[in-house]
Amino acid sequence: MPSLAKIRNIVPMTVDNYLFEFSFTDDSLKNSAPGQFVELWVPGVGEAPISVCSAKVNDTIDLLIRRVGRVTNALYLLKEGDTVGLRGPYGTGFPVDGFSLRNLCLVAGGLGAAPIRSLWQHILNNREHFGKVILIYGMRHSQELLFRQEFKLLLRRHDIELYLAAEEIDGPALPPINMQVGRVTDLIKEANLDASFQVAMCGPPIMYRYAIKELLTKGIKEEQMWLSLERHMKCGIGKCGHCVIGGLFTCKQGPVFNMSLLKLVPEVIEC
Ligand SMILES: Cc1cc2nc3c(=O)[nH]c(=O)nc-3n(C[C@H](O)[C@H](O)[C@H](O)COP(=O)(O)OP(=O)(O)OC[C@H]3O[C@@H](n4cnc5c(N)ncnc54)[C@H](O)[C@@H]3O)c2cc1C
Ligand code: FES
Repeated sequence: MPSLAKIRNIVPMTVDNYLFEFSFTDDSLKNSAPGQFVELWVPGVGEAPISVCSAKVNDTIDLLIRRVGRVTNALYLLKEGDTVGLRGPYGTGFPVDGFSLRNLCLVAGGLGAAPIRSLWQHILNNREHFGKVILIYGMRHSQELLFRQEFKLLLRRHDIELYLAAEEIDGPALPPINMQVGRVTDLIKEANLDASFQVAMCGPPIMYRYAIKELLTKGIKEEQMWLSLERHMKCGIGKCGHCVIGGLFTCKQGPVFNMSLLKLVPEVIEC
């Protein structure tokens, strides 16, 4: 059963991508970790799985939600102070303990920046526990950049290397953030990566296909790559079978998988 949560703050990031901050009292949500997801319930409409988007989940949680269908459209009609339901957290997240003291490369494509944000926040909150950190983020259009204000601050830091690119750059957006024309794969080629890096990725399947090839050419092995997969889900807890692909329950064994497992399931990502 979902527990009740209140919309505390809504920040539009782009036209159809808003960052919602929810306050809640359910203690289980406090265990939310980067890469996991929660089921968001809009009363009278239904549920949708949404990635944990903030590192620290004490009595509030951030969710970056794109308006695409029934549940998300209904959410966009609500306002601060309104009540929804949240249940979770579910699924396996990124192996943050295993990343300890390692060099890390975070790769985000489009909306994939939402789960990756909880990871970069966790790393920066515990910076001394990690090695070099590279963040690669690509999008179709420069106007689609999420967390623009946060990037302005990240760009001032010297303990994280940022590579940002859009396939098309055009129009004013504040604050202005420098990015190059290109794709995630161009950024991987350019980045100062070597075989020592662990990689955490979230983006569309087509991005994985080409990003994995580039990472392999850098000497990074499949065992060092962690991918978050998105599949249609219903229950979120391994009961309904909606999310199964190649025998894997994305909601329970994932959504974050190690590439050495995924390569055994060619229909997931055709490399
Ligand atoms: C683990 C996980 C994490 C996720 N994290 C996030 C996140 O952080 N933020 C986020 O915004 N989303 C996230 N998603 C995606 C989100 O759960 C889906 O987009 C969800 O379907 C939205 O619910 P909805 O009811 O608004 O959309 P739906 O009504 O389910 O529609 C979803 C999509 O399907 C299309 N569609 C709907 N009905 C039909 C139809 N009859 N025929 C053809 N196409 C149709 C819609 O146009 C839309 O593109 C995540 C998904 C997973 C599995
Ligand atoms: S969503 Fe029901 S089994 Fe995964």
